[in-house]
Amino acid sequence: MKIIQSPREMQEFALAARREGKRIGVVPTMGFLHAGHLSLIDAARKRADIVVVTVFVNPIQFGPQEDLEQYPRDFEHDRRACEAHGADVVFAPRPEDMYAPDRSTWVEETRLSQGLCGALRPGHFRGVTTVVAKLFLLTQAEVAVFGQKDAQQALVIRRMVRDLNFPVEVVVSPLVRDEDGVALSSRNSYLSADERERARVLSRTLRAAAPALRSAGLEALEAIREAMALEIGKCADRVDYVEILDADTLEKPTLDTREVLVLLAAYFGKTRLIDNTLVQVNWKEACSCAN
Ligand code: PAF
Repeated sequence: MKIIQSPREMQEFALAARREGKRIGVVPTMGFLHAGHLSLIDAARKRADIVVVTVFVNPIQFGPQEDLEQYPRDFEHDRRACEAHGADVVFAPRPEDMYAPDRSTWVEETRLSQGLCGALRPGHFRGVTTVVAKLFLLTQAEVAVFGQKDAQQALVIRRMVRDLNFPVEVVVSPLVRDEDGVALSSRNSYLSADERERARVLSRTLRAAAPALRSAGLEALEAIREAMALEIGKCADRVDYVEILDADTLEKPTLDTREVLVLLAAYFGKTRLIDNTLVQVNWKEACSCAN
């Protein structure tokens, strides 16, 4: 497995591989890899000749009060995990090599990125889309794998790829949970035992909501959302949002909605966790049967 630090060397390696007809898959990560990331590498392995895992804690997607400095890092662990999962290249650039001091170009999606985490973390998605666009160009990837755990991020990236005609197939891989139901996240390492126990409320509430969403009509959504927020509020130190939205548009669901995305964000101690689930619905049919 090759380790590349220089963006220029990464791009030269990728262009040479493309000239040889190789299909490159990229798994963009911020490192501190867990089983969720490893499932993304496995998904890329199935779809590409060369798998590049990027390990880069991207400073421009963190707000000034956020955890950029404390964000967990363990490159040796990441290197071993990538090797064990058959990655061909780990691309781990230094921030100063990715961003010139006088850089003045951003890539910004302006619709799907506005609500939810976008509203609470100003500039976050602009930092994500900018770095992902750069990673696509540097790795020359034809396929890129992201996790459903960051559901809003996946939608924003899909939209960026569509709107800017990136020749990249975006694959969104299912969310992976620990045995206690908590969604895997590098930030889980911040949690105390008590916070971890309380954080289980997120997956518990999502599990309970799914059957209610399928059987209840559109008009029951607000009551379901409020009940979820109440339940989460009993365990979390702060609830950032509980939303039930159309899974394609992130707008309010309508009778035509076929799938809803239930999204949660809450603090346990100083740690902000997000979680989500997709639920297929068919309210239109249920509605016309009743009439
Ligand atoms: O999901 C992440 O870890 C990051 O947002 C990403 C996509 C690697 C961009 O820095």
